[in-house]
Amino acid sequence: MSISIGVPKETVSGETRVAVVPKVAAKLARLGADLQIQQGAGEASRIPDQDFGDNVTITSREADVFGADVVLAVNPPAPSKIAKMRSGAVLISFVQAHNNPKVVEAMQKAGVTCFAMELIPRITRAQSMDALSSQAAAAGYKCALIAAESLPRFLPMLTTAAGTIRPAKVLVIGAGVAGLQAIATANRLGAKVFAYDVRTDTKEQVESLGAEFLIAQGVTAEGEGGYARELTDDEKQKQQDMLADNMTDADAVITTASVPGKPAPKIISKAMVDGMKAGSVLVDLGASGGGNCELTEPDKTVTYGSVSIIGPSNVPALLAEHASEMYAQNLANLLSLMLTEAEDQSAAQRGTKMHDLAIDWDDAVIDGAVLTRDGEPASDAARNALSGEQ
Ligand SMILES: NC(=O)c1ccc[n+]([C@@H]2O[C@H](COP(=O)([O-])OP(=O)(O)OC[C@H]3O[C@@H](n4cnc5c(N)ncnc54)[C@H](O)[C@@H]3O)[C@@H](O)[C@H]2O)c1
Repeated sequence: MSISIGVPKETVSGETRVAVVPKVAAKLARLGADLQIQQGAGEASRIPDQDFGDNVTITSREADVFGADVVLAVNPPAPSKIAKMRSGAVLISFVQAHNNPKVVEAMQKAGVTCFAMELIPRITRAQSMDALSSQAAAAGYKCALIAAESLPRFLPMLTTAAGTIRPAKVLVIGAGVAGLQAIATANRLGAKVFAYDVRTDTKEQVESLGAEFLIAQGVTAEGEGGYARELTDDEKQKQQDMLADNMTDADAVITTASVPGKPAPKIISKAMVDGMKAGSVLVDLGASGGGNCELTEPDKTVTYGSVSIIGPSNVPALLAEHASEMYAQNLANLLSLMLTEAEDQSAAQRGTKMHDLAIDWDDAVIDGAVLTRDGEPASDAARNALSGEQ
């Protein structure tokens, strides 16, 4: 017996990623898995069906994909598709249960076991499965390019016969995984980079990337598990005063601030944008969570005076090939935790080692990532989604 794995074509608007790329499909096939990939699943990442190779089945039938033992996806499938899954089958995808209670209800009804990628604990052993980090790295890189592309200016210093161009000043707010990648990218493009985070222990990381760390006196907000906590009103004011001063001569501001489980902290007010230079841009990576800037509108470029405020809501999708590749590796690494070698003489003779699902419920990564088990809520995220609590 081999396990079957279904990979659907993503249907969320603007999504271009796919949960399995050819390299990972080959790896799973070597483990003896029977892959059922929906026709056109890789199209938006520019992976034609034939690139998945001969060891997978490309199918147009949703029943083949959602009828598999394990379904691997980027976004949670719609409730009508989850209804096609078998009781006890496994779904692994991002879920964001608080935003998708209907999806959790569908899992409950269908008896599905779901592992939510955003719940994977951020412990050293799970780093290779940490999709929040891999996708944040893609987003951070890309948003520095969006800023560069949108500016009517060079980023690097140029000394030419036509005169000297001074390097652009880029201010990055939030120095987590995405922010650090934005800093590194803007720095490589030759900008003068400044960065700020409420967690002052990010100072060393910021400086090691060649940027200058800004400090808001009296504001340090290290919360639980290495994340930030929400600021008090007094702290917010101190932070805004410091940032407003630094924004007046910034060419680009990139905001990546976030507090786990909360809407994006509102850091940039209209008045602060009023103080920005003509022709400057603000790229708000917090757009999907409500925005770090008061003026941000998701998936729109707002022109306010002569400042452009850009709010892309799914930045990893703008880097589909590599974001998919990293995500697919994260999924495969998590899935391999759940597999055990099966006794299969004929497969061994063919040089393949078959694998069965064998989930160790005591494993800290499994225990952290499980959302529902055989349909029953197995985490606070699922219980809160079902009870309507945030
Ligand atoms: N496997 C691991 O051990 C692992 C993996 C990834 C991340 N981490 C850790 O998790 C932490 C953050 O990760 P993340 O990038 O997912 O964070 P995140 O996306 O939750 O937040 C992004 C950044 O915004 C900052 N922020 C929040 N409120 C702010 C405000 N008002 N003003 C300015 N900045 C603000 C946060 O401090 C954080 O650095 C870091 O400590 C990181 O080292 C650990």
